[in-house]
Amino acid sequence: MSSERERIYLSPPDVTEAEVDAVSAAIRSGWVAPLGPDVDGFESDICAFTGIGSAVALSSGTAALHLGLKAIGVQPGDSVIVPTLTFGATAFAATYAGATPVFLDADESTWNLDPQLLDDVLAAKARGNELPSAIMTVDLFGRTCDYGAIMGIAARYGIPVLEDAAEALGSRCGEQSAGAFGRAGVFSFNGNKIMTTSGGGMLVTDDADLADRVRYWSTQSREPLPWYEHLEIGYNYRMSNLLAALGRAQLSRLPSIIERHRAIRDAYAQGLADVPGVAIVQDPAWGAGNAWLTNLRCDAGLHPGAPERIRLALEALNIESRPVWKPMHQQPVFASAESHLTGVSDRIFADGLCLPSGSAMSADDVALVTTTIRTTLQA
Ligand SMILES: Cc1ncc(COP(=O)(O)O)c(C=O)c1O
Repeated sequence: MSSERERIYLSPPDVTEAEVDAVSAAIRSGWVAPLGPDVDGFESDICAFTGIGSAVALSSGTAALHLGLKAIGVQPGDSVIVPTLTFGATAFAATYAGATPVFLDADESTWNLDPQLLDDVLAAKARGNELPSAIMTVDLFGRTCDYGAIMGIAARYGIPVLEDAAEALGSRCGEQSAGAFGRAGVFSFNGNKIMTTSGGGMLVTDDADLADRVRYWSTQSREPLPWYEHLEIGYNYRMSNLLAALGRAQLSRLPSIIERHRAIRDAYAQGLADVPGVAIVQDPAWGAGNAWLTNLRCDAGLHPGAPERIRLALEALNIESRPVWKPMHQQPVFASAESHLTGVSDRIFADGLCLPSGSAMSADDVALVTTTIRTTLQA
């Protein structure tokens, strides 16, 4: 059976004729050289969708994080708070800015930066006169952080926040869109994200000057002169017009894509509701997430080693699932980094699993995954 069915991926791109038409139209228009009207149009569309004042389309979310840190004032030799439970790009960006990441543990329910721990660490650092120059937050798997708490703490210490909302386009915290917190926010349009430009990212901010600086750096810091004149080091980080055209078509379909991701998460939750010791991680009380990837959490006491057994059982059926991001403090490359740990992210890495969540999954696909989880746990 598994050889006849196509592989079920974790979160494959959901591309239709609308995207094919948009990219074809961009090619036919002649705007194949990097810049063009769809880049500006995509930025305006993202501003309209999120309610954020300015947007800069870039070649990746990682590039947006790098320039975002530079724009909020991070300098070589500084330290930056980074959640340990994240994808490597968050921490890598801090190193591109010449800064040293200081890793903080996660909150048990959202898997995001623990506000109480943040407060405690900043209080200790303030006493030692060694406050970090920025706080990076991450809206993991599409769930927004507790910004009600985090922004108050950051303001008390006067530290700017850069929001890594790479996984959270379309998620909300209260009335505000993900990406709207802090001095700037970042989205990723990598191939497996909630929407894609095949590769790309966007920096968003309500500070128009900050957006202008990022746009300038991202196009090789070129001065408005006939020849190439540079007052500052530049970067080749701008998004191309063809990819922006793809992004605009994807964004117009994003509400229905998110609706499907949420329905898939609900179906998993329903299908596993009566199984003791497993839970589908839900949105926090303060806002609906985009349900980018459905997260399963197992009770290690009742089901020791279950996530890896489930992953292998799914793989045997040609279905992709994936461990949660391995915490940064466990990564060899950051072995010597300063880390403030409570044990939460180690537990989440051990007990959690990302389930296939792509919007093209059928009800039968979701049912097959659910049944496989049930039988694996009963075995
Ligand atoms: C939390 C997080 N931050 C940053 C990135 C980097 O985005 P990109 O792949 O567009 O560079 C990703 C995803 O790839 C991510 O999941």
